[in-house]
Order: sequence, then structure tokens, then C-alpha cells
Amino acid sequence: MLSNRTIDIAPSILSADFSCLGDQIRAVERGGAGVLHVDVMDGHFVPNITVGLPVVKSLAGFTSLPIDAHLMISQPGVYAAQFVEAGAKMVSVHVEADPHLHRTAMSIKAAGAKAGVVLNPSTPVGALEEALQFVDYVLVMSVNPGFGGQKFIPQTIEKVRRLRQMIFERQLSVRIEIDGGIDRANIESVVAAGAEIIVAGSAIFGKPDAELAVKELREATVQWV
Ligand code: DX5
Ligand code: ZN
Repeated sequence: MLSNRTIDIAPSILSADFSCLGDQIRAVERGGAGVLHVDVMDGHFVPNITVGLPVVKSLAGFTSLPIDAHLMISQPGVYAAQFVEAGAKMVSVHVEADPHLHRTAMSIKAAGAKAGVVLNPSTPVGALEEALQFVDYVLVMSVNPGFGGQKFIPQTIEKVRRLRQMIFERQLSVRIEIDGGIDRANIESVVAAGAEIIVAGSAIFGKPDAELAVKELREATVQWV
């Protein structure tokens, strides 16, 4: 059930030093990051404001890492395809923000990217009863979205396990991403539960050597591949 997996470390630039973002991205590339996670926040769906389309566009021209745009915005369906046009290869929208998930997922796929849905900590996996069959990945939040550097919510491990079981029973190839409070102490347990794309912000960019931090997180997952 967990065999032949690719585990990707996805550094979240939210915790990066934006005055030297290019250098920081080169460091995580050298460390072996698989994906670059970009947190888009609108100050409405979540109480914080970050970056948007122009930043994704610049980064897409700068790195060959696939850009994973995590949209923490209201009305994500209006903007999702624009993030693909800006260069994102993965775009995820929150179940809680979008009453038209099917339409939005189709627009992401039609634009040429992988479509993801995101669950807040208090949203049950059952909310994906219908959506699971038409998405490429599910992002399970292990903190309440809005800020980097928060504490991992331990119940998320069981939630990932249940989601993995649901995907297995339906014989789908949906990947599971996890985001929030991941570090060297808990990465093994989330990977063992079934997560495959591992977002980490402060555990990478909060460290003096981001390259080494990515390497160490990767090494911690090797036995689960
Ligand atoms: C939180 C964001 C996360 C955040 C993770 O809303 O979605 O991607 O940057 O940061 P850490 O790893 O520090 O919890
Ligand atoms: Zn995120």
C-alpha cells in the first residue's frame, strides 16, 4: 500500500528571507528539494497577506523545480487557472473556500497543472467523498493556515492514515501532501502514515543552512520510499 513511492520535500518560501530569495531557492535546489511550495494568502480567507501571481511568474522563470501554489484565498476558482498560466505546475484550493471544487479542479487541469484540494485541520476527510476521484493530490493541513512556524497538530497523523486508506480502497493514484509544523522530529511519522509531499518552512529556511536542512529531511524519509 505504501510501496514505490516518491517522497518530495517541498520547502515553503513563506519562511525564506525575501531579500535574497533567489539564493535561498538555489540552496534548497542543491539540497534536493522536489517541489517549491508558494503560500498565497489574501488577508480574507486567512488573516495574513503574502505573495501572488507576479512572484509565481518570476520564480517559474528562475527555478526548474515545479511550483506548488497553495491558494489560501477566497474565491480560488476565479484565480486558480491564472496561477497555472503564471507557471505553477501544482495548484491547490481549500475545500472550505470553494463551493465549486469540480469546476475549479477542471480549470486547473485544463490549464495544464495538477489539481489539489486542501483540508483545514477541522475539516474531515469525508468532505472529499466526491472530490477525491477528480483531484491529483490532497493537501492535509497540520496547522491552521495563515502563518509559518506553528506547532504540528498530532491528530493529523491519524487523518493522513484514514485518507490513505480511502485512496487505497478506491484504487486511486491521488498523492497526499502535508503542510505545517513538519520537522525532523515528526517527518517520519507523517511519511509512515502515507504523506508523500512534505512541506516545511521554518524547519528549512529558519535554519542557518537551508541546503543541509533539506538533505537531513530527505535522509529521514529514505527508509519509507
Ligand atoms: C501555513 C502555510 C505553510 C507554512 C509552513 O499556512 O500553508 O506552508 O509556510 O510553515 P512551517 O513549516 O514553518 O509550519
Ligand atoms: Zn502552505
